[in-house]
Amino acid sequence: MEKKIAVLPGDGIGPEVVAAAIRVLKAVGKRFKHDFEIAYAAIGGAAIDQFNTPLPEETIEICKQSDAILLGAVGGPKWDHNPPELRPEKGLLQIRKTFDLFANLRPVKSFPSLLESSPLKKEVADNVDLLIVRELTGGIYFGEKKRTEDGASDLCIYSRKEIERIVDNAFELAKLRRGKLCSVDKANVLETSRLWREIVDEKKAQYPEVEVEHNLVDSVAMKLITNPSHYDVIVTDNMFGDILSDEASVITGSLGVLPSASIRGDSFGLYEPVHGSAPEIAGLGIANPAATILSVAMMLQYSFGMKEEAAEIERAVNAVFEDGYFTRDLATDKEKALTTDEWTDKVIAEIDTSFVSD
Ligand code: NAD
Ligand code: IPM
Ligand code: MN
Repeated sequence: MEKKIAVLPGDGIGPEVVAAAIRVLKAVGKRFKHDFEIAYAAIGGAAIDQFNTPLPEETIEICKQSDAILLGAVGGPKWDHNPPELRPEKGLLQIRKTFDLFANLRPVKSFPSLLESSPLKKEVADNVDLLIVRELTGGIYFGEKKRTEDGASDLCIYSRKEIERIVDNAFELAKLRRGKLCSVDKANVLETSRLWREIVDEKKAQYPEVEVEHNLVDSVAMKLITNPSHYDVIVTDNMFGDILSDEASVITGSLGVLPSASIRGDSFGLYEPVHGSAPEIAGLGIANPAATILSVAMMLQYSFGMKEEAAEIERAVNAVFEDGYFTRDLATDKEKALTTDEWTDKVIAEIDTSFVSD
């Protein structure tokens, strides 16, 4: 069955890592005999420049007609002083909201071959396999924003329903994994966090096989670095999830390897790396495409039910790391670092080789 994918490259390194991921997708299509129909559309700064809006109607239409969305990254200094409605990031927030993609899954797994690249001690970074379930369409990101004469405010607001659905999602995912759920909040200060904690406690009875702990976000920020293998599933609000996921990338060695899926409970989803547009390395051809390539694997698995194909991408990425090939962000010897395209070629060769030997 042919699957339609809307591809939104965005800004900075977005187009570079998306191009790499599409090459890998095509290799997988060839190997497993799938046709993927790809429709490109504009988002972020690129869309502002072309259409004077960060999320054009045409892009929304293309996404509506697709089975899934692949997104690179948005943002950059060129648009940093634009008014709020004309910021690239607004396009990203709008697309998440438009498609009600309330659950952002951000897996963090240590690759044995990358342990040298992590600033953490090997024994700390080893054996980490956690999943951050970040609420994505509510909280302080979407509450009313105001500027007054002598100040500014951002409202943090969550409805019961918004919390219930993300918490249910996290419990379900914990059931499928090691059965441990850590709910992260700031219940010692914030009312939204107190409601969040109450709801997690109410839901516990429905999931007796899941072991639940509550933890305050400041302390989790510390424990995530001192004892990351303690965690299985972490469920948290929009803002805390954003911050903790970049922090967790340190465990793996680079932000350039963390993928994500933004879903809503059916097969539709938006897939994007956790990282941003990295303007300082844009155009140099040195960005790590692994996060976007692994986001494609998440797309194949979650949106298309192609488990074997997804596993093949993960296997290939892992094999290339095992062979000692790295982009600049991960290379301990920078002289030997591969470019984005060279590293992607290795992944594709890995996929093709296994095709021949099958
Ligand atoms: P960033 O994630 O773009 O970069 C943080 C650091 O990680 C930089 O040193 C960067 O060079 C490095 N890095 C990120 N991805 C990399 C990759 N694939 N390979 C190698 N190195 C990589 O965060 P930032 O610098 O704070 O933000 C830059 C812009 O990106 C801002 O405009 C921000 O709003 C935007 N942003 C967008 C998204 C998104 O589109 N999902 C996410 C985060 C930030
Ligand atoms: C992310 C990014 C976005 C977020 C920004 C660019 C709006 O940091 O996807 O993690 O905060 O959600
Ligand atoms: Mn972020």
